[in-house]
Amino acid sequence: MSCRASIIFLFLFSFLTSFSASAQDPVLNHVCSDRTTYSRNSTYSNNLQTLLSSLSLSSANTSYSTGFQNATAGQNTDMVYGLFLCRGDLSPESCLTCVAFSANEILIRCPIETQAVLYSDECMLRYSDKTILSTLTTDRGVMIPSTRNVPPNYNYRKFDARKVIWTTQQTLYGLVQCTPDLTKQDCLRCLQLSINQLPTDKIGGRVLYPSCSSRYEVYAFYNETTIRRPSP
Ligand SMILES: *[C@@H]1O[C@H](CO)[C@@H](O)[C@H](O)[C@H]1NC(C)=O
Ligand SMILES: *[C@@H]1O[C@H](CO)[C@@H](O)[C@H](O)[C@H]1NC(C)=O
Ligand SMILES: *[C@@H]1O[C@H](CO)[C@@H](O)[C@H](O)[C@H]1NC(C)=O
Ligand SMILES: *[C@@H]1O[C@H](CO)[C@@H](O)[C@H](O)[C@H]1NC(C)=O
Repeated sequence: MSCRASIIFLFLFSFLTSFSASAQDPVLNHVCSDRTTYSRNSTYSNNLQTLLSSLSLSSANTSYSTGFQNATAGQNTDMVYGLFLCRGDLSPESCLTCVAFSANEILIRCPIETQAVLYSDECMLRYSDKTILSTLTTDRGVMIPSTRNVPPNYNYRKFDARKVIWTTQQTLYGLVQCTPDLTKQDCLRCLQLSINQLPTDKIGGRVLYPSCSSRYEVYAFYNETTIRRPSP
């Protein structure tokens, strides 16, 4: 191996290592409501458990391959509303894996709050004691600039890694997504807000809201062959 080749190899190796290290925590962020809480063993707590299991089981069903589902559990003041949204290119199996993981993780991170949202790399899971379906929600958004170091390894076979990373390559990959319960107008409003928050001084980044998200990178972070085109 020439010196140059070994330097490139080491370069790639360190990226792959950091990629697998970061892949161990798929959670990007979570937001627990800071206003209201419930007590253990309460009706709300039981309803929440029911809701989370129905959401994480429902995604196993092929009828949920749309990557979105909403559900409610309980009645009156103890009613819990919840939904999940998987990234548009995910298979139903990967969607299920992400939602099942998130349903468990969200209670660890938000153990007593009546409202919570958990963002992970491949899905978003959310619940509330207020109705959330068809309701545009853009408060408490999360902006995550690119970490620069997680190009998928298949790109290495096609391009010089430095070209990919140091942007001599012009291709930008973008993905925007709304929860499909929103009206087209609300979706566009949400995307406009989120796109305006995207970092411009980084070579990638994402903005996450309960109702929509946007992301761009210099590498293909989604599976281009399976991306679901939104219906008109
Ligand atoms: C909650 O329920 C469990 C089992 O029913 C019981 O052991 C525990 O003491 C209860 N905790 C509270 C705080 O009521
Ligand atoms: C999937 O949905 C169909 C129709 O709603 C239902 O009959 C079936 O039992 C579901 N399967 C699973 C594994 O939940
Ligand atoms: C929300 O869930 C209800 C009950 O399963 C279902 O009838 C409705 O179509 C869902 N709404 C959306 C926008 O998916
Ligand atoms: C994209 O999805 C297809 C179909 O599920 C799969 O065969 C292919 O391996 C995926 N490609 C990548 C890069 O994950």
